[in-house]
Amino acid sequence: MSCVRTRLKSNGSGQRSCVDRWLMTSVICRNRGIVEGGNKLSVITSRRAFVLAGAGLVATARMAPWPVQATNRYDHRIVAAPGRASLNGGPTPTTDVWAYDGQVPGPMLRVRQDTPVRIAVENRLDQDTTVHWHGIRLPFAMDGVPGLTQPPIKPGERFIYEFTPPDAGTFWYHPHANSLQQIGRGLAGALIVEEAEPVAVDRDILWMLADWRLNPEGQIASGFGNAMEAVMSGRVGNTVTINGTVSADQPVRAGERIRLRLINGGLARIMALHFENHRPVVVAVDGQPCEPFEPEGGRLLLGPAMRIDVMLDMQGEPGRRYPVIDDFYDGLAYPLTHLTYGRQLPLRSAPLDAPMALAINPLPMPDLAGAERHELTLQGGMAGGGPLAGVGGMQAMHGAAAWAINGMSMIGDGHGGMAPLLTLQCGRSYVLTLRNETAWWHPMHLHGHSFLVLSRNGSPVPHRQWGDTVMLAPKDRVEVAFVADNPGDWMLHCHVTDHQMAGLMTILRIA
Ligand code: C2O
Ligand code: CU
Ligand code: CU
Repeated sequence: MSCVRTRLKSNGSGQRSCVDRWLMTSVICRNRGIVEGGNKLSVITSRRAFVLAGAGLVATARMAPWPVQATNRYDHRIVAAPGRASLNGGPTPTTDVWAYDGQVPGPMLRVRQDTPVRIAVENRLDQDTTVHWHGIRLPFAMDGVPGLTQPPIKPGERFIYEFTPPDAGTFWYHPHANSLQQIGRGLAGALIVEEAEPVAVDRDILWMLADWRLNPEGQIASGFGNAMEAVMSGRVGNTVTINGTVSADQPVRAGERIRLRLINGGLARIMALHFENHRPVVVAVDGQPCEPFEPEGGRLLLGPAMRIDVMLDMQGEPGRRYPVIDDFYDGLAYPLTHLTYGRQLPLRSAPLDAPMALAINPLPMPDLAGAERHELTLQGGMAGGGPLAGVGGMQAMHGAAAWAINGMSMIGDGHGGMAPLLTLQCGRSYVLTLRNETAWWHPMHLHGHSFLVLSRNGSPVPHRQWGDTVMLAPKDRVEVAFVADNPGDWMLHCHVTDHQMAGLMTILRIA
């Protein structure tokens, strides 16, 4: 019986290396017999908590090295099932949805940084599902991509996800199977990783934003996967909710400081939020703390899957209401909600005198001088020349593709058998230049890592902004850098779900 730990190498930088990541999280066994084989397995599992069985996870991800469930214990359980929601906040839930634990959004999971957590996911839908822990740097086998990192969770089955979140911050979870419908019908929730030392605020609040397309009867409109929408801006809805209901007022108190965690859990809607008469200070992007800064024009740009944490000092007048406006789409501005001040006396007369900066996370700093560089060009979509203008020699895996990255399209939710676009060496630093040759906006997301956003159209991006999802405006060129320290076949895709499904997706192999 031979257990082989792959990638036993150090990057010598003192940062968390590939070795540590593996040792902390998993062991690869090359010999399938080990799964049945008695003592040694239990020794390993008790120490490591779970085992990846099967051959060659990193080298040949398609050979289904599925995680073996080594435990029945869990800290949290979420059940995906059909349910009903009251999206307008009325007393009777009337909209048929798919929900985690009967709620939209799903329950907010609060876990602790550097503390192992096990989350059981039970599938009571009538179709396969998985859960992807968006933005968490976790072992490949826990990433929740069906066919690539695990077998799908079949109806009636359960899967226990197990990982140790290295980073504190605002993350979220959602299915990575039949994503258009499963996210579009309500399956999404916030995953908050708590800092060891919380920052000083009066309240820590979450706005999990969702965008629904409702028909006149208040039911979720059919027509998911419309080919015309897929080549344009995707399935943008007509009803935006905060924490599951359309919101007119968010009660606040004068003088208080709020940490507001914003998550855009929509399929396709991009948001640009303004807090009238208020000055939000951005303290984290995609969960990763940045140098606190006031965004240009007070505008918070939030594409699908993106998160921003802001500090808001409530300096408005008691008894007044201040709109929060989303004006991303030309001519379609609407009030998302209002900051509605109670009549109480201010909590304090001047803003709280405490630092806003959050403690930084243990992200490995890329070595920019020694980094290897690659270009990824986003192509396709509706353009002057038709849907596939600019995509030459495109090769689709299944069905129709309307988008491509470097001329290749991977469509759907992810599956085994896709050749990686690039193979990166574990422990090495990389700079990726993302070039948007299309006429559309794309929030581009990389699994399993956070990257430092270096520049946009040649100008340096200030305030140390890390992310797992970076927005590209039409024709944008963005440079990001990261240390490829997490072995696996990681998806890189646009988080406008229709774009992902129609080909704006690829795989980076780290081996
Ligand atoms: Cu939010 Cu492929 O992920
Ligand atoms: Cu992700
Ligand atoms: Cu896109």
